[in-house]
Amino acid sequence: MPLIDLSVCDGVQFREWEDRFMSLYLSAFTTENYSGHYLDELEERVWLHGLFANHHARCYIFHEGPVLAAFLLAADTGYDRRLPADMKAQLEGHGALSIAELTVTPAFRRQGLASRLVMQCVADATGHTGNVIVRTNTHADPARRLYERNGFDNWGSLRVPNPMLQNGKLYWQLVDKTYYRRNL
Ligand SMILES: CC(C)(COP(=O)(O)OP(=O)(O)OC[C@H]1O[C@@H](n2cnc3c(N)ncnc32)[C@H](O)[C@@H]1OP(=O)(O)O)[C@@H](O)C(=O)NCCC(=O)NCCS
Repeated sequence: MPLIDLSVCDGVQFREWEDRFMSLYLSAFTTENYSGHYLDELEERVWLHGLFANHHARCYIFHEGPVLAAFLLAADTGYDRRLPADMKAQLEGHGALSIAELTVTPAFRRQGLASRLVMQCVADATGHTGNVIVRTNTHADPARRLYERNGFDNWGSLRVPNPMLQNGKLYWQLVDKTYYRRNL
């Protein structure tokens, strides 16, 4: 079993990992279940910094020395402009933390790292807020199994316009997303 350490980063520490984080993030969310999805690196960097600046983000990182194995980025739910108003209303008075991003480097998958990150995030949120929520691509089966295995319920679905890239051409496509919710 390799030596894998868990670190919790604030915005300052996150900068040390930023380039490795971006490389994993951009590849994970444009391949496999996210194939064809378009992400603009600069926009994503700005968005991520905004999570730390404006939404109390914290990032959990598994690493083997300097090699990034996995990360989970949690933030307050206010960051999520796609959360439908009726679902947001259900959280009122209870509070919620969002898992904004979660990715495991392919070579480190199926070793339980994602489950450990989710459970650490849930443990840290317990006593501070009433729910942990997350939005995934509806067709991303590994993510669905991960959240169901860790006590999350399917909370509802929506269809959102998503920028896609094919043969160098950008276009918009409607993509199904599912929210999962765990009551604490
Ligand atoms: C979804 C994702 C985060 C899962 O990461 P992971 O670290 O492989 O997750 P886990 O190891 O906790 O669980 C994955 C599987 O390995 C199994 N597993 C866990 N520990 C294991 C071990 N020691 N040996 C063998 N299998 C193991 C789990 O039971 C699970 O099986 P299942 O998918 O058939 O139910 C990863 O596939 C990923 O980064 N995908 C791309 C990005 C993405 O979809 N992110 C989530 C969006 S919110």
